[in-house]
Amino acid sequence: MTRVAILISGGGSNMVRLVQDMTGDHPGRAVLVASNDPQAGGLARAAEMGVPTAAVDHRKFPRDRAGFESALLEPLLDARPDIICLAGFMRILTPDFVQRFAGRMINIHPSLLPDYPGLDTHARAIAAGDKQAGCTVHLVTPELDAGPMLGQARVPIMPGDDAAVLAARVLVQEHRLYPAVLRRFAAGDRTPVLLER
Ligand code: GAR
Repeated sequence: MTRVAILISGGGSNMVRLVQDMTGDHPGRAVLVASNDPQAGGLARAAEMGVPTAAVDHRKFPRDRAGFESALLEPLLDARPDIICLAGFMRILTPDFVQRFAGRMINIHPSLLPDYPGLDTHARAIAAGDKQAGCTVHLVTPELDAGPMLGQARVPIMPGDDAAVLAARVLVQEHRLYPAVLRRFAAGDRTPVLLER
């Protein structure tokens, strides 16, 4: 069994999809859902699904990213994960933390990377006049949103779309893409998953 820990910051809809998919012949099982926000809605959803949870409030570590990360490492290492999935985890991780899990930590990002790393991806794609948007799952490397691509899903940008409408359209695809990538990745297969709507 491949042990999978999931880091979240918010509602955790991607996390729910990952956990729901990890049954039957899936090589992975969820061993921990952890958040930097004790109020994150996803923590309760994980607990309802029977997955152990942990919260380490980053606000207790002002200007101390390393201190936050060493506190986060305690429950994380206790869970002995083989793979860490970032699923709407909104803290930037230090190179030290990333290196510790090199090749074993993956992230979903709401753009067609390498376009639009960072925040406000949908507003930026609309402002640029792009015809397509989407989401990318990639290996996490020290450079933000820049690791090797493991999967991508595309959606059209329609006339009149605002960022919220586009985000909702992309999120539907995130919920298809991330479980598909994790299934492959947990089986040791890094062939990219490419989804068209
Ligand atoms: C998702 O759209 C995810 O791609 C994005 O946050 C949302 C989390 O939603 N992640 C990032 O922006 C990472 N930089 P969820 O909590 O419902 O899964």
